[in-house]
Amino acid sequence: MILVFGSLNVDLVARVPVIPGPGRTVLAPSYQTHFGGKGANQAVAAARIAGPGKVRMAGRLGRDVFGDESLKNLAGNGIDTGQIVRVDAPTGCAFITVDSSGENAITVASGANSTACAADVAETLFNADTVLVLQMEVPYAESLHLARKARSAGGKVIWNLAPVPDQMTGAMIRDLLESADYLIVNEHEALDLAAALDAGVTDFETACSWLARSGGLTCVVTAGAQGALACTADDTRYRAPSPSIRPVDTTGAGDTFVGAFASMIGEKSSLKKALEVGCEAAALSCLKPGAQSGMPLRDALREVPPRQASDSPEHSTCTQMRG
Ligand code: RIB
Repeated sequence: MILVFGSLNVDLVARVPVIPGPGRTVLAPSYQTHFGGKGANQAVAAARIAGPGKVRMAGRLGRDVFGDESLKNLAGNGIDTGQIVRVDAPTGCAFITVDSSGENAITVASGANSTACAADVAETLFNADTVLVLQMEVPYAESLHLARKARSAGGKVIWNLAPVPDQMTGAMIRDLLESADYLIVNEHEALDLAAALDAGVTDFETACSWLARSGGLTCVVTAGAQGALACTADDTRYRAPSPSIRPVDTTGAGDTFVGAFASMIGEKSSLKKALEVGCEAAALSCLKPGAQSGMPLRDALREVPPRQASDSPEHSTCTQMRG
């Protein structure tokens, strides 16, 4: 069973020609409302691949309309919502601008997510089949508590360290690495983490390898159109290419990767297969607006457009390397 502990948001999305810098105002013709939150997005992505009844979501929602609709959305995606608690705080809300190339900028008002609590999650959910999925939009100490509980029950922990909080110390990062089996970050987050631990590395591939070896875990770095790289603790490396697509909206692409990757780990697939499925699902998710609407069902993965040979020499399969 995949258990996602994390944030649930409603996303208010405006499409703009250019994302405004500090002190600037831009006009958008309208806005759209989508379901979001890194935790909820990852749960939906996992459920679309794993199928109904295979994913549980734990976290907190407000007693408001956004909370009601978010619950219905999760249930409609076949996700068990029995571990979600309603509180007297507004449901989390994200204010998102998307530019004409599909890039985005996001401000999250945490609301109920900031009260998410490890004690809400039933002890009985932790066993050797548990795959716990964590991110960084709910209190870190609560996530760390659950990670340790999942590991001591023999389960696996997938920690997507996004967004990296400004106040994250080296000690916090080391605790996180010790309590996870898989660390998933993007290339910028990999470099930020390595810098916070004084690794002295300047490229994301070396950062990935360094984090995996020093944390004794598998580190996965997602790199957008460049696909993804995984390094294991013994420095075995795998790569998966990203299918060639023209993105409409990249919001939630990283979450789609994490959810799809988790569903494959839950099925005890190989690391190589989990990377491939993660990259394919993430690419497909960029073809529709909003974080969740483009997340593919498992059958849709067969329709992934292949990357042109000229785009990547590694288009056919993942390659395994010893570094
Ligand atoms: O990763 C994308 C998500 O980040 C959005 O859905 C938004 O809610 C923020 O949490």
